[in-house]
Amino acid sequence: MLMIEEHHIVRTRKLRRGPAEPSRGAPQFSEMLRYRIIAAITRDSRGIGKDGVMPWPKLGADMKHFRELTVGGVVIVGRVTFEKIGVLENRLNVVLCRSRNEYRGENLIGARSLEQAEMLIGSRGFQVANIIGGQSVYKTAFEVPRYSQRLHLTEIENSYECDRFFPAFHDHQKIFESVQHEENGIRFTFSEWEAR
Ligand SMILES: NC(=O)c1ccc[n+]([C@@H]2O[C@H](COP(=O)([O-])OP(=O)(O)OC[C@H]3O[C@@H](n4cnc5c(N)ncnc54)[C@H](OP(=O)(O)O)[C@@H]3O)[C@@H](O)[C@H]2O)c1
Repeated sequence: MLMIEEHHIVRTRKLRRGPAEPSRGAPQFSEMLRYRIIAAITRDSRGIGKDGVMPWPKLGADMKHFRELTVGGVVIVGRVTFEKIGVLENRLNVVLCRSRNEYRGENLIGARSLEQAEMLIGSRGFQVANIIGGQSVYKTAFEVPRYSQRLHLTEIENSYECDRFFPAFHDHQKIFESVQHEENGIRFTFSEWEAR
C-alpha cells in the first residue's frame, strides 16, 4: 500500500531537550528509533473515538493496511485502547500505563513512559515503533521532535460524533495519498505525512 520508502532518520535526544552538545560518539539504540504514528481519523474533525471505541464499523481495507504496517514490528498502545483490543498477534505489544504493573507475557510488555518504552524496544533491536493510539498516546508522541515521525492516516470522509481526537498536524506535509476506497457507504483514503 505504501509507495514511498521511509528515510532513515536519526533522532538525538539533545535536540529535544535543548541546543546540541558535542557528539559523544555513535547514537544509542533509543536515539535511532523512528515513530510511525498510525491512526484512522475523520477528515472534518480529526475524530478517532467515541465512548472508548472507534465510532465507525470495521473497515476491511483499513485493517489489512494496519496489519501490513505493524506485523513483525512493535506497537505502542495506551492502556485504555489496549483493554479494548488486547494483544495483537505477531507484534511486540508495548502498553503505556502508569497505574498498573501487570503487562507481561508473550509479545507483551508494559512501560510507564514513552522513554521507557523506547528503551525496551531499542534493547530488542527494533528501529521503528508504531504508535497506535489512543488520544493521549498520540499527544505524547507528537511531543517528540517532528522529524522522527511519519503519520500513516486513514482519512474518513464521513462525519461521526467523537469524544477523542488526533492532534492537529499542520506542520506535516502529505507525501502520499491512495485512491479513495468505499466500504458500506464509508469513503476513506490512506495518506502518509512527514514533518515539513
Ligand atoms: N481511530 C484510531 O485510529 C484509534 C486508535 C486507537 C484508539 N482509538 C480510540 O481512542 C480512544 C482511547 O484514547 P484515550 O486517550 O482515552 O486512551 P489511551 O490513549 O488508549 O490510553 C490512555 C492511558 O494510557 C496510559 N498512558 C497514556 N500516555 C502515557 C504515557 N506517556 N506514559 C504512561 N502511560 C500513559 C495511561 O494509563 P493509566 O491511566 O493506567 O496510567 C492513560 O490513562 C478510544 O475511543 C479508542 O477507540 C482510536
